[in-house]
Formats: sequence, C-alpha cells, structure tokens
Amino acid sequence: MARIILEDKEKYIPDDSELRDACEELGVEFGCKNGFCRTCEVTVLEGYDNLSPLSENEEFIGLIKPRRLMCQCKILKGTVKIKIE
Ligand code: FES
Repeated sequence: MARIILEDKEKYIPDDSELRDACEELGVEFGCKNGFCRTCEVTVLEGYDNLSPLSENEEFIGLIKPRRLMCQCKILKGTVKIKIE
C-alpha cells in the first residue's frame, strides 16, 4: 500500500494507483483533469521519487520538481506528502 498525505489528512491506496480520487477526497481541487488548467498543481514535500514520471502534459507546461499535477500522476509506492499553494 502507498500513502498520500496532505496536511493532517492521509489516505492509503494500492501501489501504482492514480492519485486523482484520493487527492480529491483529501481536498485538492480539480478542474480539467487532463493536465492543462493547473488547478490540481501541488508541491511535493516528501516522496517525489515515489511518483510516476512526468506526463506529456506536465512536460508540455514546463512543470519542474517539486511541482506535480495530481490529475496526471500515479503513486508507485511508499509515502508522498503534498502541499497546496
Ligand atoms: S485538473 Fe486541470 S491540470 Fe489537473
């Protein structure tokens, strides 16, 4: 199992899972869900390497570490801690 943490809330989800639903339940807001609007952009405080590689859309908009779009990545394993800003 993998774990996603946002402030004082956390969710356990299977390894190699999409983060969208879990993050929505934790309070991350979503818009297009296709990697363009950046509504779901967060800072990854811990566990950046536990996420899947940047998607084509994340690369297209020039996203760089430690920022990720929660509609575009999977958690591969372990713990990922994020912050909304
Ligand atoms: S919801 Fe639009 S980029 Fe993720």
